[in-house]
Amino acid sequence: MKVQIDDKEFTCFLKHEKIIDRCRELGQQMNEDLKNSTPIFIGVLNGSFLFLADLMKEVSIPAEISFIKVSSYSGQTSSSGVVKSVMGLNDSIKGRDVVIVEDIIDTGITLTFLIEEVKKMQPASIRICSLLFKPDALKRDIGKVDYVGFEIPNEFVVGYGLDYKELGRNLKDIYRFIAE
Ligand code: PRP
Repeated sequence: MKVQIDDKEFTCFLKHEKIIDRCRELGQQMNEDLKNSTPIFIGVLNGSFLFLADLMKEVSIPAEISFIKVSSYSGQTSSSGVVKSVMGLNDSIKGRDVVIVEDIIDTGITLTFLIEEVKKMQPASIRICSLLFKPDALKRDIGKVDYVGFEIPNEFVVGYGLDYKELGRNLKDIYRFIAE
């Protein structure tokens, strides 16, 4: 199936059902890994909003949920490499087990910045969860990614929270850009 978003055409890449199945697996793994903890899940807006919602339905241990906002793209199909400041972080995470939830790790610039900012708040531990991970696009040493939904090729993807020019976040499936 194909969709047109603004000036570009995209083709279906990951069906919603497959994403939900993976959320279940990740949630079950987290329930086991964090069974003796009451972690704080921090979703990175805007892209993670659907993934975090579906993931948390599979997390059955006591857990808090919060959101932060960082921006690195500006309506382009490649990372600008510019990371702005983070909004929404506060010292309530001090001494707590934190799980940062991303929709995608692309260059890793956002995540490395974010980890440093979160560390300043002195959490007990930081785990990283990302629905999508593009190993071939990585430009930073991000260390271990504890939970990865899907490793994907270095292609532009949209849907299920991810945008193209701020559009397409509401698509249930994930689509990839078809190059001309
Ligand atoms: C996207 C995505 C990650 C980041 C990944 O966010 O949600 O946070 O880019 O790219 P990187 O690994 O190259 O840093 P974006 O800044 O586009 O904001 P959005 O979530 O609001 O779309």
